[in-house]
Amino acid sequence: MRTKFKAWTIPYLEEHQEYSLTDEELSSLDDFYLEIGSGKGDFIIQMSEKFPDRLFLGVEKNVTCAGITLKKIVEKEPQNVKFLFKDGAEVVRFIKDHSINKIYLNFSDPWPKKRHSKRRLTSVNFLEEYKRILKPNGNLVFKTDDIDLFTFSLEMFAEAGFKVISSTYDYDGSDNDDAITEYQIKAVNKGVSIKRVVLGL
Ligand SMILES: C[S@@+](CC[C@H](N)C(=O)[O-])C[C@H]1O[C@@H](n2cnc3c(N)ncnc32)[C@H](O)[C@@H]1O
Repeated sequence: MRTKFKAWTIPYLEEHQEYSLTDEELSSLDDFYLEIGSGKGDFIIQMSEKFPDRLFLGVEKNVTCAGITLKKIVEKEPQNVKFLFKDGAEVVRFIKDHSINKIYLNFSDPWPKKRHSKRRLTSVNFLEEYKRILKPNGNLVFKTDDIDLFTFSLEMFAEAGFKVISSTYDYDGSDNDDAITEYQIKAVNKGVSIKRVVLGL
């Protein structure tokens, strides 16, 4: 479901740069946790509260979602969150090699048409970048309600050489290193099972 455009988010994102990073700052960032496609920010905010010693970077390319997330961040004033209103592809290329502990992909857009498959956040171009920026003992954590995207992604992970640490087609939300998201709540309410995989290098 498309998020209804909210015009206030455009000036809001311009006015609140305090949680943003320049490309230079991004390229010197180390030892952090990344979420691409943060939506309305519930995951990153809950995780920053649960793990105050971790630095989280959220990335979202939709202006309305990004504005909503940033407003939540500005109101809560977490000390351990950075946020970029950008396309994930534009962000990852500036990230230093082996600087990330975990990359979280939550309910990524499925892009069901084959001609759009390169836009999937689990497509080969992204996976090669994730391998470069993850620490050797880092993890990629992917959850979705979309069985076709999950099947495609498992194939891509295997091809790219990721190792499955745990995988389930019926995730109950019980991993402590996790937080519930807006799309997860929607899926649960519809009775759709959550698929989740944790990967290492
Ligand atoms: C289906 S929503 C899920 C939102 C949230 N993670 C959740 O679980 O509720 C996917 C989000 O990822 C964002 N997104 C998709 N591709 C992206 C990309 N390349 N870079 C940044 N954000 C992206 C979309 O704009 C959208 O807000």
